[in-house]
Amino acid sequence: MIEKTTSECATVNKIIQGHSHEKSALIAVLQEIENSYGYLPEWTLRQVSEKLEVPLIQVYGVASFYDAFHLTPRGKHIIRVCLGTACYLRGSAWVLEALERELGIKDGETTPDLEFTIQSVRCLGACASAPVMIVDEKYFDKMTPTKIKSVLKRVRGKNEKS
Ligand code: FES
Repeated sequence: MIEKTTSECATVNKIIQGHSHEKSALIAVLQEIENSYGYLPEWTLRQVSEKLEVPLIQVYGVASFYDAFHLTPRGKHIIRVCLGTACYLRGSAWVLEALERELGIKDGETTPDLEFTIQSVRCLGACASAPVMIVDEKYFDKMTPTKIKSVLKRVRGKNEKS
């Protein structure tokens, strides 16, 4: 678990103040916190609940309802594998399986080094190129399980250059 620091509390307070402590700004506040941390640490939900005077269960309910919010840390690289019909029929489940095996995590999980998160999705709007996978914002089309290693190598290679 990531512990909060005084400056992190101040950051969250500043976000809340920016919305004048308005209860109706709950989603906007959570969105800004998500943008700052890449997810919503539990302590931020408590802080939002206290400062906006919204029950914690309601804050948690909103945070867990929307796909835009995440309650656990996310990887530096988000890998989205399409399991929509066109991709599935062309073997995307095997692509996902190969990716899970290669990274040692399951769909929805993040590697312990916080480098990668795997997320299955339904249709990325590129069905003609099925099966499709996106790493960060880059599309990889006509994916096969055997291409996984080279894609990961490419992404890791970019890390070393930056
Ligand atoms: S089903 Fe995968 S891109 Fe449409």
